Amino acid sequence: MMNETKTAISSKEAMALEDRHGAHNYHPLPVVLSRGEGVFLWDPEGNRYFDFLSAYSAVNQGHCHPKIIGALTEQASTLTLTSRAFYNDALGPYEKYITELLGYDKVLPMNSGVEGGETAMKLCRKWAYEKKGLEDGQAKILFADGNFHGRTLAAISASNDPSSYNGFGPFVPGISRIPYNDLDALKEALESDPNIAGFMVEPIQGEAGVVVPQEGYLKKAHELCKAHNVLFIADEVQTGLARTGKMLACDHEGVKPDILVLGKALSGGVLPVSAILADDEIMLCIKPGEHGSTYGGNPLACKVATAALEVLVEENLADHAEKMGQIFRSRMEGLQAKRPDLVTLVRGKGLLNAVVINDTEDSSTAWDMCVAMSEAGLLAKPTHGNIIRFAPPLVITEEQLNECCDIIETTLSKF
Ligand SMILES: Cc1ncc(COP(=O)(O)O)c(C=O)c1O
Repeated sequence: MMNETKTAISSKEAMALEDRHGAHNYHPLPVVLSRGEGVFLWDPEGNRYFDFLSAYSAVNQGHCHPKIIGALTEQASTLTLTSRAFYNDALGPYEKYITELLGYDKVLPMNSGVEGGETAMKLCRKWAYEKKGLEDGQAKILFADGNFHGRTLAAISASNDPSSYNGFGPFVPGISRIPYNDLDALKEALESDPNIAGFMVEPIQGEAGVVVPQEGYLKKAHELCKAHNVLFIADEVQTGLARTGKMLACDHEGVKPDILVLGKALSGGVLPVSAILADDEIMLCIKPGEHGSTYGGNPLACKVATAALEVLVEENLADHAEKMGQIFRSRMEGLQAKRPDLVTLVRGKGLLNAVVINDTEDSSTAWDMCVAMSEAGLLAKPTHGNIIRFAPPLVITEEQLNECCDIIETTLSKF
C-alpha cells in the first residue's frame, strides 16, 4: 500500500546523509529501506520490494519474523547483557539446543561472522600445538582461492581478492592457499607440508559468485584432511542454516566438519550472532581466559538465536528452500535457453543462486540490471561485476517466487 510506511525522512535525504557523514566503504544500490516483513521491504515513500538478497543470507527466516521478534522483545526487557564474567540463564539452554540440533559436543558463541572465522582459526592453531604436536608458532591454515571469510586482518590475509587486501598489509602469517574445487592441489599441499593444521573452506563460495564445487569435493576433501590429521573447517556463515536446501551445505555430502562456523541467519537478521561448533577433543583446547567476547553469548542473542533456529526447524525451511530453488533455477535456465546472449550460466543450491551475465567483469551491465530490477520492485545485488546473486528469504511462497521470476525475466530481457 502506497504511503502506508511514510517516515519523516525521504529516500533522497537518507542517501545524502549517508554520503555526507558515513565512511565510503560500501557502494549501495540507490534504494533506501525503512521497513521489512517476510519477503518484503519498503522504502520511505511506501514502495514495496521483494528482497532477493536477504542481507547476504542473514534473513533466511524473513524480515521481522514474529517468533524471533517476540523472543527479542521479551528478553530485551528482562536481561540483555551480563558478560561472561557470570553465568546467565539463557546461554546454557541455547548451547544445549544448538549442539543437539547440529550434533556437536560444544559451541563457542561470538557475534559477527568474521569473528566466528577468527575463532575457528585460533582454535585450530591451539589444537595443532596441543594435540597434533606441531612446534609452537609453526601452524599453517590452508584456504581456497576465491574465499571470503570477512574483513578482519586474518580474514583478508587469507584472501586473493585485491580489493579485500590491497593497502592493508602487513598480513597475518601461517596462511597458504590452493585453488578451490581442486582435490589434487589439496592432496599435494597436505602431503608436502606437515605444518598444515587446518583447511578452512566455504562449501559454496557465496561472495565469489555462488561457486558450487563438483559433487563429492567436500566429502573427499574431508577424507583427505582426516587422513593427514588436519582439521576440516567449514565456513557456513552464508551457506548454513537451511539456505542451500539442507540445514548445512555440508549435509549435502554427509560431511561433519571438525569445526563449523555459523553466523548471519543464526539470528534471522535481528542481531549479530555467530558461533563455532566442535567436539570436546578440539573445543576444550581453549581454556578459560584464552578467548572470548563481551557480547558473545549474551542472553538477548541466546534467546534470539534459539528462536531463529526453531523457526528453521518448525517451518521446515531447508526442504522448502530445496523445492523453491529447483523452480528458480529451472525458470532461469529457461531464460538462458531463450537468451544465451544475455545469460551464460545459472548455478546454485537451494535458494542460494546466481545468474552469470554475458559481459565482462568490469562492465556495468549486471549493476544496471539490478537498478532496473529495483525499479520493477525486486532487490538483488551484483557480485564480482557480471554475476547477480539471487537469495530471497526462505519463507518465499511458490506464487511469490514465480512472480519474482517474471520480474527478473522481463527486466533482464530488456537488455
Ligand atoms: C562465508 C562468509 N564468511 C564470513 C563472512 C563475514 O561475516 P560478517 O560480515 O558477519 O563478519 C561472510 C559475509 O558475507 C561470509 O559470506
